[in-house]
Amino acid sequence: MPSRIDGDYLRSNHIESSIARAFMQGAGFSEKDLKERPVVGIFNSWSEMNPCNLNLDQIAKSVREGIMEAGGLPVEIPTISIHEQINYPSSLLLRNLMAMDVEEMIKRSPVDGVVLLNGCDKTVPAQIMGAISAGKPAISLSAGPRALSIYKGEEMTIHSLWGKKEERQKGEINDKGWEEYLSKLIPGPGTCNVMGTASTMSALMEALGLALPGTSFFPSQSKERELAAKKTGRMAVEMIKEKRTPDQIVTLESLENAFRTVCALGGSTNAVIHLEAIAGRAGLRIGIDRFRLWSETTPHLVAVSPSGPYSLHDFSQAGGVPALFKRLATLLHLESRVVTGETWSKIIGRTESTDSPVLRTLDNPINPDGGLAILKGSLAPGGAVFKRSAVPKEFWTHRGPATVFEGIEDMEKRINDPNLPVGPESVIILRGMGPKGGPGMPESAKVPIPKKLWESGVRNMVRISDGRMSGTADGAVVLHVTPESAEGGPLALVQDGDIIELDAIKGRLELLVDAKELDKRRKNLQKAKSPSRGYDWLYHQHVTQADTGVDFDFLIDPAVRSR
Ligand code: FES
Ligand code: MG
Repeated sequence: MPSRIDGDYLRSNHIESSIARAFMQGAGFSEKDLKERPVVGIFNSWSEMNPCNLNLDQIAKSVREGIMEAGGLPVEIPTISIHEQINYPSSLLLRNLMAMDVEEMIKRSPVDGVVLLNGCDKTVPAQIMGAISAGKPAISLSAGPRALSIYKGEEMTIHSLWGKKEERQKGEINDKGWEEYLSKLIPGPGTCNVMGTASTMSALMEALGLALPGTSFFPSQSKERELAAKKTGRMAVEMIKEKRTPDQIVTLESLENAFRTVCALGGSTNAVIHLEAIAGRAGLRIGIDRFRLWSETTPHLVAVSPSGPYSLHDFSQAGGVPALFKRLATLLHLESRVVTGETWSKIIGRTESTDSPVLRTLDNPINPDGGLAILKGSLAPGGAVFKRSAVPKEFWTHRGPATVFEGIEDMEKRINDPNLPVGPESVIILRGMGPKGGPGMPESAKVPIPKKLWESGVRNMVRISDGRMSGTADGAVVLHVTPESAEGGPLALVQDGDIIELDAIKGRLELLVDAKELDKRRKNLQKAKSPSRGYDWLYHQHVTQADTGVDFDFLIDPAVRSR
């Protein structure tokens, strides 16, 4: 039987000497195990209200076996679970609440280290943010992508939903067809089966070093994922013994590796927000200039939907994140260490190079410019994001007059109005969707094409918002405009007909209106009202803007706050 290590280090030691042990014995744990084994908390975001995380109960069983095999004592602890489409008005509103739950329960429970089980988009950063702040050894494992759905004999991914929704809104699919389509859309547990936010975040965890290399894209219900779960459990015990804490893994270098990975994947725009929030918990700040530099110098290499024709399975078969690291080697910090204690240099040394159209090389990229463009300019002094990889090149530069909507209700009321002042060259603005205005930056920034333009064949146009877009969607949409309109950012000043210029090659977003005129408009602005109580109040008082990760100011590490 392994002996307990290093007395004081183990918070679970207090179980031995206190009445807590009596209660744990009451829960079925043996005195001997409680005294001798390191306690590993399995922080599980399984929930029946979260279909994407529904297989985590099975995965937890395998994690448990791995922990036992390595001499640890597994204790499963439920966490808050957030679903992207089910929780409203937006999942990001609840990410910080979940991060607080995870942080406090890691800190205040007698566990020596944790396995974090996550899946649906925000559950990944929420758990990691909490675990970094808590400071105990932590390893992440996601639910894995769900199977592809079959509709009318064809395999389809969640990406198809957005096109179908648009057709439905335009009356091209009737009630029966829509119901039938929806009934087939989600064939079982697991995360969205394209390079959406959940997949991007899972790959980001691997690249950052907080998950076992090569494990992100094993299907949700597969032998490989079960084995990965066992290994993750075993590794958690090793990490406790080695005192391998998140601060040794999350560094500016590993954050750069993670972001370059997202760019090469053509991954979700949401990653920009979450990565800055993760950095803030580790006492680090990335900042828009670093994001710009990294994105401009990282080519897009992975052709997975929605930024290419291939599936996650194809990418996994081609070697997944370690194979991508091998391709990107000259751009990455290979001395960064991961949960196993190994450097990336060692990991890619044993990774085979595969030849596959889903994973291109540096000298034959899908696009030499990164999948994500970080924009700045008079309309977005604090930055904005544009997913170039999912937008045809003709939309990367554009100049046109604004058509402005004040939030979702206004947009839904007027978007199909035949008298809407809009043409194919127009730039649609949807504001009031930011961290405070949304609240929580709802993923509704992809405004549908106005009906009168749709009927004349228009299928894409430039749209700009302070909100977010689903990582599974495509389209010429500028997102996360900072500062948001509810905080009086320039986006709040735009009027119908103002000329807006987008240049996603040079990274610019400009509002071409005279400064004096803007000053005049600014005088009449009103900021968003604060809710009067509860979590909504806490959120409104303390949430930061997109350029600082939409975290609460008091949760960001003091080292960053004091800068
Ligand atoms: Fe949960 Fe996509 S909605 S992962
Ligand atoms: Mg999503």
